[in-house]
Amino acid sequence: MAAGARRIKSVEDSIRDTDEPEHRLKKNLSGLDLTVFGVGVIIGAGIFVLTGVVAQAQAGPAVAISFVIAGITCGLAALCYAEFASTVPVAGSAYTFSYATFGELVAWIIGWDLLLEFAIGAAAVSVSWSGYLQQMLSDIGLELPASVAGETATFNIPAIVLALAMTGVLVLGIKVSSRFNAIVVAIKVTVVLLVVAVGVFYLQADNYSPFVPPAQPPAEGASGLDAPLVQSLFGFAPTTFGWGGVIAGAAIVFFAFIGFDIVATAAEETRDPARAMPRGILGSLAICTALYVAVSLVVVGMQHYTELNADAPLAGAFSAVGLPAFATIIGLGALIGLMSVVMILLLGQSRVLFAMSRDRLMPSWFAKVHPRYGTPYRITIATGLVVAVLAGLVPLGELAELVNIGTLFAFLLVSIGVIVLRRSRPDLPRAFRVPLMPVLPIVSALACLWLMLNLPGDTWLRFLGWMALGFVIYFLYGRRRSRFNTPGDREDAAAANAARNA
Ligand code: ALA
Repeated sequence: MAAGARRIKSVEDSIRDTDEPEHRLKKNLSGLDLTVFGVGVIIGAGIFVLTGVVAQAQAGPAVAISFVIAGITCGLAALCYAEFASTVPVAGSAYTFSYATFGELVAWIIGWDLLLEFAIGAAAVSVSWSGYLQQMLSDIGLELPASVAGETATFNIPAIVLALAMTGVLVLGIKVSSRFNAIVVAIKVTVVLLVVAVGVFYLQADNYSPFVPPAQPPAEGASGLDAPLVQSLFGFAPTTFGWGGVIAGAAIVFFAFIGFDIVATAAEETRDPARAMPRGILGSLAICTALYVAVSLVVVGMQHYTELNADAPLAGAFSAVGLPAFATIIGLGALIGLMSVVMILLLGQSRVLFAMSRDRLMPSWFAKVHPRYGTPYRITIATGLVVAVLAGLVPLGELAELVNIGTLFAFLLVSIGVIVLRRSRPDLPRAFRVPLMPVLPIVSALACLWLMLNLPGDTWLRFLGWMALGFVIYFLYGRRRSRFNTPGDREDAAAANAARNA
């Protein structure tokens, strides 16, 4: 195990790999493209669905505070991502950063962990999209059978079609994907702004009180494993609502922020990444946090939190105040808006797996770039197929909860990693530096850990099971095949390590 930790891939090696002709991605993206990419993946099922679920079950009108807490946690992690991405502008994001700081074993574990964020996330959002489509079609009198569409389908045709269609767009090139995304973002941001601009005239002061509903014991029959782990560990009596509920709600609405970190996976496809990366990561997160807080405050002001529609709270609030036409526009906006979320989660997943294949922790066959489109087409298609199967055939239900814990774990490691890399490689040029070092990354790591502990015990059990499986696969496959174990590469890597340690 210690050997895995000693196999550190230097930042210089990572950057050099990006120039091998077979593995060279097209550098087409600007800082603005990256910001729009960020917004394209961040605004999705989180705001369009979870706002209602969390307001009803955990936080009441204070769901807006849950968004603020989750947004601050992400903001701290985003600063750490921005420093890494401006220092190591290589595809793979947290995976590549971990390879440069903690060594191969942790890098593999993070790559494995990111499958939870990107692949399961893409599949879960595809299923949400299918639910929205079913609802919209049913509103105009077209009923899709529940066995082949919607949230509970056994063979989810719309979810499969969406995952494959988005894969097709990605294969055609990063510029095509970026144009498609820009159109989707324009539509969904307009819809979100519309919710705020119109909804604000329908607020009722009564709906805001009590703003933080008093803590209550959880529903009868909820087992210990359903409670946030922190309550079971420290023996707090489990509650819903109250401040405990607001924080547990933050761990859930955290999903709505997932994706800003994908901006970092596109580093290799960016012109001038040192400047563009921090702008893209921090800019997209700031825009979305402001929109989320505004939307959630408006929605809980329009309709009492106990009456919000759990599946479509934004559209439901407009129907409730007698504006069904707006409800339809919002539904359509969500339907279009979720498409770019799936596309960019697939993009993030394929870039991480591309980096892992280039390092031979996965079969290197996958790391070939398309001669004309300049995209890692093999791994993109393979990712799309796996996500389509997950979305179409596997009952995701509880698996979707793993997305948050997996992402928070990646943020935790990136936060610690930024401190480690400052110590181990103070010489590297850093276009963006995290302020208040090392306090800010430490606070970031603790905030991520705290939100993780606020997730239910059974999510933790599944997460630990997934990670254990990752260890086994590393020792059976990646460890033996890695570039550190391949003659030629091994000598190069060992020499580079020795030179650095001398
Ligand atoms: N943040 C993305 C969403 O809310 C994953 O759908």
